[in-house]
Amino acid sequence: MTEWAKAVAHPNIALAKYWGKLARPGNYPAVPSLSVTLAGLATTTAVRFRDDLAADLFTLDGARPRDASRVVELLSRVREMSGERRFAEVVSANDFPTASGLASSASGFAALAFAATRAAGLDWGESRVSDLARQSSASAARSVFGGFVELTVNADSAAIVAPPDRLDLRVVVAVTSEDAKGTGSTDGMRRTAEKSPFYAAWLEEAPKSYARLRAALLAKDFGAVGELAEASALAMHASAIAAGTVYFAPATLAALHAVRVLRSKGVAVFATIDAGPHLKALALGDADAATVKAHLLTTPGVLRVIDARPGEGARVGEA
Ligand code: DP6
Repeated sequence: MTEWAKAVAHPNIALAKYWGKLARPGNYPAVPSLSVTLAGLATTTAVRFRDDLAADLFTLDGARPRDASRVVELLSRVREMSGERRFAEVVSANDFPTASGLASSASGFAALAFAATRAAGLDWGESRVSDLARQSSASAARSVFGGFVELTVNADSAAIVAPPDRLDLRVVVAVTSEDAKGTGSTDGMRRTAEKSPFYAAWLEEAPKSYARLRAALLAKDFGAVGELAEASALAMHASAIAAGTVYFAPATLAALHAVRVLRSKGVAVFATIDAGPHLKALALGDADAATVKAHLLTTPGVLRVIDARPGEGARVGEA
């Protein structure tokens, strides 16, 4: 039995969204994306290879998930690239609710990629770990790095665009449901690519808005970053909705409306929404974040809010 290798990773929220994949194998995104890795929320994963296992054994938050195929696939890649031939025991825990709308697959596969390579004796740097994580879930490639991170088309690994303190950003997550989401992002993207009359327009537009957002971030222009982030999320959802994939719940729209009303009153706040019903509000500094939080908490259907801000990337060790 090997020693446990442990790693910790944090979720990230895309400001310029990844939605759609290239036709080539290996899970490469069809559009560039830019995200912020969040402090305060963490996945911790421990891996050890064992002589006495007939299959990989995966526990998430104390339970055995029904479908562990993506975890087994990552472990199989690690076995192919190392001298390790044994099956692994994997114990993973999120310190935030899996159904909170904070992509747990991103932090999950980033932590797993770090811990599994270390357990197999592979002393890989962040870029190779990010490449491995990308093959399981492309957004996970970004969680390997801290601050503002991009994953460009055809890149194997994500890369840092700016450190966490580039913007005094606050992310207020409005949780609108305690259930796990219906359609996973992989399926939602596939349907959009197959059926949406607007998918071609999304592929055309997304790289341009990513480039504008990247420039606005480097110029520390929060107003432009927020506007472009909200537009990216709405364009992504428009393309998905046209294929019949609707992630919005009534409370999602109520929260979006609340954000826009606040903005019309002069508060610099913007919204982004991922492949689920929760809304993430983007604001600058503690005072605006408190105003946004108070408004969202009184919005019908918003169950609670979670505060987050830019943070560090994944690393070996514990949370
Ligand atoms: C809406 O990374 O979960 O959160 O690569 O198929 O696992 P797979 O997809 P995933 O998609 C994330 C989609 C998104 C936008 C984003 O994070 O960029």
